Order: sequence, then structure tokens, then C-alpha cells
Amino acid sequence: MFACLCDGITGQAADAVADGASTTNQIATSCGAGADCGRCRHALRSLIAACCHLEKSAGPVRSTDSAHRGAARPPR
Ligand code: FES
Repeated sequence: MFACLCDGITGQAADAVADGASTTNQIATSCGAGADCGRCRHALRSLIAACCHLEKSAGPVRSTDSAHRGAARPPR
């Protein structure tokens, strides 16, 4: 499924969130999603919220988990 039709972005937006993007601007900087017409930004915000919800549901993340993913965790 496309996250951003203007740039043909699919899983790259979710990857950006998993790598620590916590705003639509950060996603746009990472992969380009949301940088053109902006119609996908609501969906991108939902993606960020879903990712944050999953992280809270999973409980504390050990530091080795972040190191394994190679990315900083988004601010809480
Ligand atoms: S659909 Fe994403 S910027 Fe236009």
C-alpha cells in the first residue's frame, strides 16, 4: 500500500518511523513522503501514532534493542 502517492512511497515511511522519525517533517526528510502536496500527512501522523502505541504496549525497550536496530528512539 502506498503511504504517499506523489513520491510512490510504500514501506519507506514505516522504516523512517522505525528509525526514529516522530514528525511528518522528519519522515519527509528521510524518504520524501509528505513533501509534495501533503495529502498523505494525516496518514503519516497515524503511522507515527500507531508506532508510538506499539512501543508503549511493548513496555520498556532494552538499550541493546535500540543498538540492534541501529537507530535512536523517538522522544516520548
Ligand atoms: S501524497 Fe504524499 S505528498 Fe502528495
